[in-house]
Amino acid sequence: MKIYFAPLEGITGHIFRNAYNEIYGHIDKYFAPFISPSEKCPITPRERKEVTPENNQGFCLVPQILTCRSEHFIEGARELQAMGYKEINLNLGCPSGTVCAKGKGAGFLPETLALQKFLDDIYSYAGSDGVKISIKTRLGYFNPDEFYDLLDIFNKYPVSELIVHPRIKSDFYKGEPRKEYYAYALEHSKCPLVYNGNIFSAKDYEEYSGSFGTGLDPVMLGRGLISDPSLADKLKGFTAETDFAKFKRLHDTIYHEYQKVMSPDINVLYKMRELWSYWQTLFDGKERDIKRLLKAKKYEEYEDVVYHGLLLEN
Ligand SMILES: Cc1cc2nc3c(=O)[nH]c(=O)nc-3n(C[C@H](O)[C@H](O)[C@H](O)COP(=O)(O)O)c2cc1C
Repeated sequence: MKIYFAPLEGITGHIFRNAYNEIYGHIDKYFAPFISPSEKCPITPRERKEVTPENNQGFCLVPQILTCRSEHFIEGARELQAMGYKEINLNLGCPSGTVCAKGKGAGFLPETLALQKFLDDIYSYAGSDGVKISIKTRLGYFNPDEFYDLLDIFNKYPVSELIVHPRIKSDFYKGEPRKEYYAYALEHSKCPLVYNGNIFSAKDYEEYSGSFGTGLDPVMLGRGLISDPSLADKLKGFTAETDFAKFKRLHDTIYHEYQKVMSPDINVLYKMRELWSYWQTLFDGKERDIKRLLKAKKYEEYEDVVYHGLLLEN
């Protein structure tokens, strides 16, 4: 089976990706958090640093673009092609208020005429420049029934893969995914499908596959893979248990790599806190330590909890 690592802005940057790939691997594609091209600049130096092949060696990376302007998509995609990328992903799912207010991400979904014009332009560029474009979408903006028309639209284009996160904008990342719409996609999509949403364990994967009557392959995992970095190994049958030695290596590598590029302590600790908001599920019964760790302002306080309280001995 194929497993794709979902893009998580602020979390799965190149530091996380490299550490994860070196220690765990077994990911078929990593999707980079979005690049948002503007009038002035298709890719900022900061975004370039994230996706440059120099910083992403030894694994397959798919960069993602967030825009509702086809000329911006094409300019950004050309720059990415020049770096060697052969697949670019279009973000039609971001639920953030500021993004949607600009008609991007999930905010592009209700504009079906503009969306078709946009897709005409970018797929005509893709055909002539020999690049694949995949799409990551939600079901709709206001109402999941928008998905019926959206799928008809996507079916008209050579979408290399259609990644469906079966929620609408206002669902954000909460509640149960609307499985019945993914079942509809399985029946009616002409594009190769990828399921994404709420797979946190091997049991979840089995249940979702069971309810769709088919193994989800490829499957895209986001928060589940951050929360339990062994999840891909579990789904692929390499292990049945969370590997804490590997987890410690992942933690230490990310922590030290952030220290090389960030200061003061608190900035690194903000990044670690975000990760711990997911990792805490691995440490049942350690709620007090996690609380202390989330409050740490200096490396010494943080390390005291991580390496003594949480038993990740240094
Ligand atoms: C903090 C955060 C950042 C995200 N950033 C992106 C992003 O840059 N691009 C994107 O397509 N999706 C983004 N997503 C959505 C995830 O890729 C994924 O679709 C979502 O988390 C549902 O999958 P999951 O239940 O496996 O986590 C983000 C989600 C979260 C929670």
